[in-house]
Amino acid sequence: MTDSKRIVLSSDHAAIDLRQAVARHIAEQGWEVVDIGPTTPESTHYPKHGEAAARRVASGDCALGIILCGTGQGIMMAANKVKGIRCGVCSDAFSARMIRQHNDANMLSIGARVVGEGLALDIVDAFLSATFEGGRHGTRVDMITEIEG
Ligand code: RB5
Repeated sequence: MTDSKRIVLSSDHAAIDLRQAVARHIAEQGWEVVDIGPTTPESTHYPKHGEAAARRVASGDCALGIILCGTGQGIMMAANKVKGIRCGVCSDAFSARMIRQHNDANMLSIGARVVGEGLALDIVDAFLSATFEGGRHGTRVDMITEIEG
């Protein structure tokens, strides 16, 4: 990962309020937030929002991404279809730290109907403050990349 502090945020309609809270929280920490919406509460389709955020990360435009939907699951599945993306759903800070340290995750997904705002911000902090350990974990991440072809 680069030293860039540019991060993309996206969600579906189920997570707009939490996404905006995450955006405010990490902007205060000095992150350059690229919030690609949506901003209106109409029902929308999480795959397109997950894909759009993932493409910002895969292209190198953003170093990391945080995506949210009701459970965090559907938008994570869509993001992980984009080559180069490693996105995990987290409902606890330990997992959020570990997907950076061991899996070199470049995207985090959160379920807005699963966790409250306080826990979500802890999860985000754990993800953003951790770094990839490399070594044997690098071998395993390379094996994931090989599956992509
Ligand atoms: C939308 O109702 C909901 O299905 C979506 O936010 C998400 O939970 C899907 O995985």
